[in-house]
Amino acid sequence: MRFIAKSVVVTGGASGMGEAVAKRLAREGASVLVADFNEAGGTRVVSEITAAGGTALFQHTDVSDPSSAQAMVDAAVTNFGKLDLAANVAGIGQGHALVQETELELWQRVNGVNSSGLFFSLRAEIPALLAAGGGAIVNVASLAGLQTFKSLNAYVASKHAAVGLTKNAALENKNIRVNGIAPGAVLTPMLGNLSQEEVDGYAASVPSGRLGTPQDIANVVAFLLSEEASFVNGAVIPVDGGLLVA
Ligand SMILES: NC(=O)c1ccc[n+]([C@@H]2O[C@H](COP(=O)([O-])OP(=O)(O)OC[C@H]3O[C@@H](n4cnc5c(N)ncnc54)[C@H](O)[C@@H]3O)[C@@H](O)[C@H]2O)c1
Repeated sequence: MRFIAKSVVVTGGASGMGEAVAKRLAREGASVLVADFNEAGGTRVVSEITAAGGTALFQHTDVSDPSSAQAMVDAAVTNFGKLDLAANVAGIGQGHALVQETELELWQRVNGVNSSGLFFSLRAEIPALLAAGGGAIVNVASLAGLQTFKSLNAYVASKHAAVGLTKNAALENKNIRVNGIAPGAVLTPMLGNLSQEEVDGYAASVPSGRLGTPQDIANVVAFLLSEEASFVNGAVIPVDGGLLVA
């Protein structure tokens, strides 16, 4: 129970990794604001947390809208009295397109969520964490923030921005640790409905021989938000079964 009396916002908490993070932090005692624009998923996650004895609230949030990101933080402070921690997990993928074929709308949408949305979230969260006396933040980037993936230009650029923002936010406030994780392929709704053959195909390229699970991600996010990671700051940790070094 590492998060008793801690309050946390989890963006993207309605699905996949964010859902696993929200449930994990709640199980370890945190009061969790599940922030997402997926209302059905978010309210389901909140009722599953409360049914298990945890504390959670849903806040309809579009992180690509700065006023919505601010309202998310305000809701956490109003309902839980303060904000200690944040897990910025919300993100969207993209279909494949070469740079010269990438529609402007796609570029703006992907960067609007993964890059600007992360910035808007951090911009709202940091003052609240400072008001609480300090805290910790974890941003979910991607291996695409550390390396290239052909035809995923908007996504790669947006996740490189997430890595840069993580490092810069880390150096700016002594009492707030800001770290990131760079997941490899993780089995969530973002990957779509993969056949077993496709899953096996991906898994064959991963040194650990499998795809990640949302729990693999929640384990590392919870560690980075906990006091066990009190001297980890500005790090972006691959959580990828060794794919980056393959
Ligand atoms: N699944 C993977 O293989 C993989 C790999 C590397 C990185 N990631 C990153 O992990 C994070 C979580 O993705 P996931 O795989 O759990 O996908 P997911 O689609 O299951 O979850 C993403 C969640 O973010 C929410 N969201 C999207 N845009 C939002 C917005 N503007 N405002 C608020 N909420 C918004 C969605 O509604 C959804 O609930 C993303 O940032 C993604 O880029 C995923």
